[in-house]
Amino acid sequence: MDLTLLPPDITAAHSGFELAVAACADLDALMRLKGEFTGRDGSHAARMMDLLKTAPKEQKRELGAAINGLKNAWEESIKKRQSELEASKKRGTSLASSWDPDLPPPMPAHGARHPLNRLMDRLVDVFRPLGYHVEEGPETETEAHNFDGLNIPEDHPARGSADTFYFAAHEGKLLRTHTSPVQVRVLKRLAPDIEKLGGIRFLAPGRVYRKDEIDPTHSPMFHQVEGMLVGHNIGMHHLKGTLAYAMKALFGPAADVRFRPSYFPFVEPGCEVDVRCPLCGGSGCRVCKGSGWVEILGAGLVHPNVLRFAGIDPTIWSGFAFGMGVERTAMMVSQTPDLRLFFENDQRFLKAMGGLD
Ligand code: DAH
Repeated sequence: MDLTLLPPDITAAHSGFELAVAACADLDALMRLKGEFTGRDGSHAARMMDLLKTAPKEQKRELGAAINGLKNAWEESIKKRQSELEASKKRGTSLASSWDPDLPPPMPAHGARHPLNRLMDRLVDVFRPLGYHVEEGPETETEAHNFDGLNIPEDHPARGSADTFYFAAHEGKLLRTHTSPVQVRVLKRLAPDIEKLGGIRFLAPGRVYRKDEIDPTHSPMFHQVEGMLVGHNIGMHHLKGTLAYAMKALFGPAADVRFRPSYFPFVEPGCEVDVRCPLCGGSGCRVCKGSGWVEILGAGLVHPNVLRFAGIDPTIWSGFAFGMGVERTAMMVSQTPDLRLFFENDQRFLKAMGGLD
């Protein structure tokens, strides 16, 4: 388009045209600009048409093309800006017309404690009044804490790399396979003061890791709550009374516990603890697979070697310990059939899990 044929004031107006269009903040302003450039009378376009009429014959073709090019470009830009402004006006109007001053303001969705954390919190709340405090241990552990200090022999299958995540530059570092190593750490730390303290009581909730394939009941990462009490002349009756009390506090007064002999290297005797199915009350249902009981704890009397390794005299001190599977318990309480739901963070599931409280 040859603009040199046009009067200089029009070429100047044209060079500022795109900016002027963009600066139109509403339709009124745009319509004024439209009138200025392409209106019937007195506009730049109208003046150009007059010019064309009087132009010398040999210039008409070229000048006509230039004028048309400009007019089209102006009209197109104005049309585009017009539809933008109309759309935003529409959004504004429809927002305004649907605004109901009586409605509560839209609040940002806020988060909540995860159901697994809430269950662990509840267990802590049950034990705190009994004098238990909360301990934490690292998720990256040493073989010494995760196995040796717990009397787990060198050739125990759980120590194999098929079950345990070892760090590549091995050096005895691993992801803890249970919360029991917290026992070793706490016993060692408090051993010098145990006389003054009159004993040791703590709860240790946390994440643990095992090389399990992911399926509805397994995950390579899950949670446990470890509990431990060390005192004088502690026996199975203390363990039984404490866990029976705690399970009633957690699941309601109808909850009952059952102890089955079992083996864990760090306790002697060891047992597994079943809770009477909180859902069917023991008559048998899908959750307890008809047996009326669900296993949720491993427990026992602390093995003398565990105390000895930590520097505590097992002829003076004795204790009990237990470890609870958090996911397993949460699944049972909430009738969640698939463990993976706890880790997917689907808002609908988490909301429905409000029932765990
Ligand atoms: N650490 C065991 C596990 O992961 C659970 C356990 C059993 C913990 C017996 C204990 C205990 O404290 O006494 O399977």
